[in-house]
Amino acid sequence: MNILLTGGAGYIGSHTSVMLLESGHDVVVLDNLCNSKAASLKRVEEITGKKILFYQEDLCDLAGVNEIFRQNSIDAVIHFAGLKSVAESVEQPLRYYQNNINGTLVLCEVMQANGVKNLVFSSSATVYGNPETVPINENAPVGAFNPYGRSKLFIEKILTDLYLSDKKWNIALLRYFNPVGAHLSGLIGEDPSDLPNNLMPYISQVAVGQLQKLLIYGDDYETPDGTGVRDYIHVMDLAQGHLKALEKLNSGPGLVTYNLGTGKGYSVLEMVAAYEKASGKQIPCQIVGRRPGDIPTCYANPCLAEKELGWTARRGIDEMCTDAWRWQYLNPKGYV
Ligand code: NAD
Ligand code: WQD
Repeated sequence: MNILLTGGAGYIGSHTSVMLLESGHDVVVLDNLCNSKAASLKRVEEITGKKILFYQEDLCDLAGVNEIFRQNSIDAVIHFAGLKSVAESVEQPLRYYQNNINGTLVLCEVMQANGVKNLVFSSSATVYGNPETVPINENAPVGAFNPYGRSKLFIEKILTDLYLSDKKWNIALLRYFNPVGAHLSGLIGEDPSDLPNNLMPYISQVAVGQLQKLLIYGDDYETPDGTGVRDYIHVMDLAQGHLKALEKLNSGPGLVTYNLGTGKGYSVLEMVAAYEKASGKQIPCQIVGRRPGDIPTCYANPCLAEKELGWTARRGIDEMCTDAWRWQYLNPKGYV
């Protein structure tokens, strides 16, 4: 198949590109590079020995997006493009809603006009807000509490309405838990443009000496060691989930929603210990107050994806940390 990846130069998109190319698909990438570098796609080509057709384009530009569909015969779209910083979304809600929601509306309009109706969407566990119970099932109540999370929730609703209006659409809403790690080659990985917001890239930058110490946001949660518990998932397992979702869409399932997580929760302190073991480096840490908006515990029930997609995450936290560290020490300043 010929797959269009919006936001394909980013962290998850670049890893998914490797998986798609190695499975015999063709990849077209649309990305405005607002949070990524074209070098990631060159590295994907180096890993796979295959070419990517890249358009540096903003998803909100309807004419530009339409032109990509005119020039290529697209079979399906994986929609990664979006802004993803929770803190930034609180400061700039209009920018987040404009980019994430308007970009999706443009994409769907162009897809509809061109008769392309298979779509995989990057949603997030953040749509569950503070879950009442764990592990979290797909039918758990939703309710995000920041503009970023709400943009994901609104997009889920928009895509649901679109499907209800025209049952020829096949849409997979993939709710990712906490993606970490990197491709085994060490050639591609996560490259935050500013100070990392997320735990794993922060630890990596401490380990490689770019940052002094990790601030641990709270050790007084109701968790076994008091620090926050999350479901970390290796980005290559996540990439595999996209391949399985595309296959599923070919069977005409309509609108489907899947958690992509491992089903296991690890605390901040457990992640630090695993990273220290993988890297042989000591990670200086300081316990500070809770980060506003954080929740104590979040992990998936991934059984539906196993049952309906035949997908499970295979890589454990040691492999996640080893691969994240390999990327970081080979590329201490990212894609420069
Ligand atoms: P990323 O920032 O590395 O990739 C997103 C890409 O989208 C970037 O390359 C960026 O340049 C591009 N982009 C953004 N707005 C665009 C626009 N208007 N037009 C064209 N390109 C645009 O992020 P990622 O970690 O790879 O995340 C991919 C998707 O998965 C995002 O939608 C994100 O919200 C979602 N997600 C990420 C996580 C996570 O923790 N990484 C978790 C859950 C969901
Ligand atoms: C994990 C744990 C922190 C950084 C966020 C978004 C979510 C999704 C994934 C896109 C928590 C602790 C972190 C640090 C720390 N993104 N921590 N020191 O908060 O689960 O989810 O990214 O959809 O929407 O909210 O991930 O990696 O930021 O935090 O102690 O410097 O690490 O408190 O317990 P989170 P995270």
